[in-house]
Amino acid sequence: MLYAGFEMCIKEVTAVQEQNTYYLNQICSRNALYTQQTGRTKKCLTHTFGCQMNERDSEILFGFLTQMGYEKTDSEADADLILFNTCCIREKAESKVLSQLGELKKLKKKNPDMIIGVCGCMMQQKGMADTVRISAPHVDLIFGTHNLHHLPEYIYNLYQGKGKQIAILDKEEAVQEGLPTYREDPYRALVNITYGCNNFCTYCIVPYVRGRERSRKQADIVQEVKQMVAEGVVEITLLGQNVNSYGLDLQDGTSFAGLLRELNEIEGLRRIRYMTSHPKDLTEELVKTIAESSKVVDHFHLPVQSGSTRILELMNRRYTKEDYLHRVEIIRKYMPNACITTDIIVGFPGETEEDFLETVDLVKQVRFDSAFTFIYSKRTGTPAARMEDPVTLDEKKDRLQRLNDVLSDIGRTINDKLQDTVVEVLVEGPSKTNADMLTGRTTSNKTVIFAGDPSLVGQMVKVHITEAQTWVLKGSLAE
Ligand code: 5AD
Ligand code: SF4
Repeated sequence: MLYAGFEMCIKEVTAVQEQNTYYLNQICSRNALYTQQTGRTKKCLTHTFGCQMNERDSEILFGFLTQMGYEKTDSEADADLILFNTCCIREKAESKVLSQLGELKKLKKKNPDMIIGVCGCMMQQKGMADTVRISAPHVDLIFGTHNLHHLPEYIYNLYQGKGKQIAILDKEEAVQEGLPTYREDPYRALVNITYGCNNFCTYCIVPYVRGRERSRKQADIVQEVKQMVAEGVVEITLLGQNVNSYGLDLQDGTSFAGLLRELNEIEGLRRIRYMTSHPKDLTEELVKTIAESSKVVDHFHLPVQSGSTRILELMNRRYTKEDYLHRVEIIRKYMPNACITTDIIVGFPGETEEDFLETVDLVKQVRFDSAFTFIYSKRTGTPAARMEDPVTLDEKKDRLQRLNDVLSDIGRTINDKLQDTVVEVLVEGPSKTNADMLTGRTTSNKTVIFAGDPSLVGQMVKVHITEAQTWVLKGSLAE
């Protein structure tokens, strides 16, 4: 029975790939004709909101678009196709999308042939496709998270004059392998290992818009990484909403620890990062494996969300404050110098001052290197959206400020200890704040800015830290 289902799954994937080949060929020849007639190649731009999962999806979308013959542009005015890959984790992310989408109206008026598309998590929410259809009639294409591999079909239909394409699937399709990709960074790559989430934290919209957890087969991941390394990649970031539960759904003994062990053996690969871990699934065996795998970084991003056991229960996180502290103890036992970072939500419905102080206390006990901190944002359709929330926004803002002050003090003290040390950095490129300087990261995810030749990008170098700041380190080449 299982085998029959598996076979059907493969047939489905192959059929999509065959159809895509047809659509891509048709679009490509139309675009080639356009170039012949106008002397101009069509341009496209993707605008990605939200997390690395979305960034990875955009690489695939961009992969398709380049196969169609589009060239990348950074200018909206010069684009023939603009695709917004959206996020809905918090309200702010959504309003950003809607306002930027509104601005495209003028461009579409000037160039009616321009294709404007919106996809991703925000579109997957109930009723959102309709909202966009009505409030932004200049949008030609709307699709969700489960069908990005159908992009060639939708663009083909638009080329055929079939009118607006709106396609939101209720349910996830089988894991797709062999999709095209366009990666800007030749040295660092994102690698999906699981899709979706089964955890249903009560504040979070992700399980509703990304579907149930599905793991890729270990052999497919390893094969993809080997290919990337052959192309020059030195650092990979494994992606999943909860990488620690990787493989459990495959029910064949596959596990995250096993995957890390195999990837660690790949010659030429220098660093293995991963995002995100759920504390409830972080076992001692996994920490031991990470400690023993030289390429797996000394960095744990372990979202705690709150330090109050009462709030953690309301959040459905399935661990207590003490459980979390115990996980941290295990990390410190095997990797005393590891960097630990986290995500924290303040102002979850009903969070009292006492609950908040529990969070501050946990932060002080763990001494996080840094944290992403958020004010709770109500997401329609989630259980938390129906909870009483009497705390004012001003009070929540005040808590966020107080929490950030504590985190800054700790971050600064930790970084100060790195002053005058020599650290190993993988050079990533020019610094965002000063293009004459290079930036890179240590294995413990510290950003280091230093002067050096751009030819060092992609290499591991030793840097002497001369100035420690709260969130970055400055230094000079040590060799
Ligand atoms: N409000 C605020 N923050 C949220 N996060 C997820 N959902 C919400 C929400 N509704 C935060 C969590 C998660 C991170 C990716 O985003 O901290 O770990
Ligand atoms: Fe959202 Fe929780 Fe799943 Fe993370 S683990 S994506 S916070 S539901």
